[in-house]
Amino acid sequence: QNEIYLAGLFGTLPAFPMTFAGLEERARAALPPSVWSYVAGGAGDEHTQRANTEAFRRWGLVPRMMVGAAQRDLSVDLFGTTLPSPLFMAPVGVIGLCTQDGHGDLATARAAARTGVPMIASTLSVDPLEDVAAGLGDTPGFFQLYTPTDRALAESLVHRAEAAGFRGIVITLDTWLTGWRPRDLATGNFPQLRGHALANYTSDPVFRARLAKSPEEDPQAAVLEWTGIFGNPLTWDDLPWLRSLTDLPIVLKGLCHPEDVRRARDGGVDGVYCSNHGGRQADGGLPALDALPDVVAAADGLPVLFDSGIRTGADVIKALALGATAVGIGRPYAYGAALGGTDGIVHVLRSLLAETDLIMAVDGYPTLTDLRTDGALRRV
Ligand code: FNR
Repeated sequence: QNEIYLAGLFGTLPAFPMTFAGLEERARAALPPSVWSYVAGGAGDEHTQRANTEAFRRWGLVPRMMVGAAQRDLSVDLFGTTLPSPLFMAPVGVIGLCTQDGHGDLATARAAARTGVPMIASTLSVDPLEDVAAGLGDTPGFFQLYTPTDRALAESLVHRAEAAGFRGIVITLDTWLTGWRPRDLATGNFPQLRGHALANYTSDPVFRARLAKSPEEDPQAAVLEWTGIFGNPLTWDDLPWLRSLTDLPIVLKGLCHPEDVRRARDGGVDGVYCSNHGGRQADGGLPALDALPDVVAAADGLPVLFDSGIRTGADVIKALALGATAVGIGRPYAYGAALGGTDGIVHVLRSLLAETDLIMAVDGYPTLTDLRTDGALRRV
């Protein structure tokens, strides 16, 4: 904040918009229309996507005075690592296409390296996971797995993620097929079918062994092969196998029902991730924020990651006060990437963190534990 005001004294304005609405508007102009639709859009009439953001307005933090909040502590312990803040970047499959150079995965990794904000790298990336991991520097990264039907391929991806230095595996459960997305249907555009963001497959020895010709020789056949193995309609009977894939922490993404959280917990996962995929997968669902309190209760002390609808520092605060251990963003940093690559993402992350910190100061909640005390958050 001070940085921006001081620069303003000398006539320099921020290079990027200061609100989510501003980011969105500029990203719309910056991105090719089909990429814009893919990133900005959601399932059905996008009721759930809108409800995700509106849900935050039904909660308010009750300010406390004279608590001496001159120093704030936003750090969190997650899976044995201390993170500087509770913010992380959720996996965004086509982030690679969002930057002008077409390497948005690497831009995201570099933004993570610069800010200490962890990145969850998607299975669906333009650059292979090894290159993404190399860009992270000392900042922790997690690998998000879309579990293919070929178990040997799933194992290979997880083992590559381990070898590359990722600190945990996030298994996304809500996207073994793609939801009904009218904006993409209208433009007839599904990026992966055009061969985008499949680098983790085309660089994988198990995947390559399934092909008659290499993906370089016959890209079309590789895409067809990919459509055949992409989505595994997992059941709870598969959890012991998933658990057996790695000693790294495992987090299940897409859990909104407390009973599912209990099953995950009983199955030995290390964390649960409450999310409805930003409203991209199924319309008519409960806003993710409204699912969070029951998820936290059922998690019974297990870390709870959260995303879907976070746009401001105030939203970060509310999700934390409702019990999230760490809070993720998707579209906001994708728009940052569209506007300025690594610099644009860094701007989005630093702005969110600055606002979060200022609210903790002004409203008298110097630690995340303070935010979780009874009476801090009230239903509006
Ligand atoms: C996603 N998301 C996602 N999730 C995941 O587990 N793997 C993935 O590859 C992707 N890909 C993806 C692409 C795009 C363009 C978007 C916008 C989102 C979902 C993402 O991780 C997260 O759950 C939501 O983006 C959170 O909601 P907000 O912050 O976008 O409202």
